[in-house]
Amino acid sequence: MEDRPIKTSAPLTPTRATAETILKIEGRHPLSGEVRISGAKNSALAIMAGTLLCSDQCRLTNIPDLADIKRMAEVIAALGVQIVATPGNLDFDTRHLRTAEAPYELVSKLRASFFVIGPLLARLGEAKVPMPGGCAIGARPVDLHVRGLQAMGAEVIIEHGVVQATVKGNRRRLQGAKIYLDYPSVGATETLMMAATLAEGETIIENAAQEPEIVDLANFCRSMGAYISGDGSNKIVIQGCDRLHATDYPIIPDRIEAGTFLVAGAITQSEFSVFPVVPDHLLPVIAKLEATGTKVIAEGPNRLRIKPQGILRATDIETLPYPGFPTDMQAQFMALLTLCEGSSVVTETVFENRMHHVAEFKRMGADVKVKGNNAIIKGVPFLSGAPVMATDLRASAALVLVGLAAEGTTIMREVHHMDRGYDDLEGKFKALGARIERLTATL
Ligand code: EPZ
Repeated sequence: MEDRPIKTSAPLTPTRATAETILKIEGRHPLSGEVRISGAKNSALAIMAGTLLCSDQCRLTNIPDLADIKRMAEVIAALGVQIVATPGNLDFDTRHLRTAEAPYELVSKLRASFFVIGPLLARLGEAKVPMPGGCAIGARPVDLHVRGLQAMGAEVIIEHGVVQATVKGNRRRLQGAKIYLDYPSVGATETLMMAATLAEGETIIENAAQEPEIVDLANFCRSMGAYISGDGSNKIVIQGCDRLHATDYPIIPDRIEAGTFLVAGAITQSEFSVFPVVPDHLLPVIAKLEATGTKVIAEGPNRLRIKPQGILRATDIETLPYPGFPTDMQAQFMALLTLCEGSSVVTETVFENRMHHVAEFKRMGADVKVKGNNAIIKGVPFLSGAPVMATDLRASAALVLVGLAAEGTTIMREVHHMDRGYDDLEGKFKALGARIERLTATL
């Protein structure tokens, strides 16, 4: 085809160089030692919303240092809650909760901030919370949250992108209800369980999510005097009460961060320890690591050791609600499967669009074909470092894992995705012996 001049409406001017944070990873350095796991992001975010239920002051400890935690604190402070942050701790004083309106500019940055809707309705009888946007992995609707709150007596209008909920009646108090969730949504289970703690009467949530973060939230609410049973099963029963009192509550360890490090050991064929963990929260990840031929040894009630055996065999993964294989480990485990001998199939059943990491893996030499919500992976003998782009939180972690195993250097851009959900990931890997640097590059 003949060369055609580029038609531009204006003379091309050199764009101003921009500074951008990147991660530079030199592959194939063995890891060793031990890594300390931070508090669970997805538990901390829900429990932070749960502090709105408290009529006193409450303290949360073992809080991870994450961008998402900071954003959630901004949303809650905007509601009139006083928050004092010290390393690893958050102190909340919710006695002066003054507004039921969560600001759009803050909620739009963090989907999890939608979780404040249940506690606001329960405490104030009203809530105005912007619809959380979709994100890279899917549309992320909130219809199950809304329908459950309506069943509890909330009148809900959605207009101009804002969910406006109010409770009518003399005491403006939510009523207990029997709710069946069409899908065991983690967020909807959390919203409705929190709302029910201060409702009139009994609420039953059928087909509830069973994730460990649900149990942690229930334990937090019980520590404030709530009456909840069945959490961790698919049927949760809550007896509403009039008020919830102060508490001092530690967040559970992050099972997804722990799983990410276990996979790091397998993909780099390195042996090291991970603690604190709750081994029961990691059963599906441990089972699939062992299916690849990698051993995971218990070194105590809350400490595991990854022990690769020099071989990596292909295995299939299907993401499912807990206790199935967690969707938040799908990208990280797929990174491992790209180097496993044989052919693996990864099926993503929870989110409709959670395969963005595949294109980046292929830039590094992986053999992956995506058909709908399935990825077919053929193991290759090695991967090569390359410039890659993080597209979402768990994809960013998966790219770090591939970078650690690849020959040569990997440069990862869009590092902000990683900072949303991992507390000093590169510092923890560096302490294990990885060659990984956070740099500011002018591009
Ligand atoms: C939570 O998101 C986690 N986030 C996600 O972690 C996690 O992937 C997800 O649960 C599943 O385990 C937090 O806890 C902050 P869902 P959530 O409601 O509550 C559909 C990470 O990487 N759905 O269980 O939003 C939804 O579209 C993040 O740490 C509805 O259709 O997940 C999805 O397909 C990513 N209607 C499925 O259910 C609703 O009202 C699961 O969503 C709600 C959800």
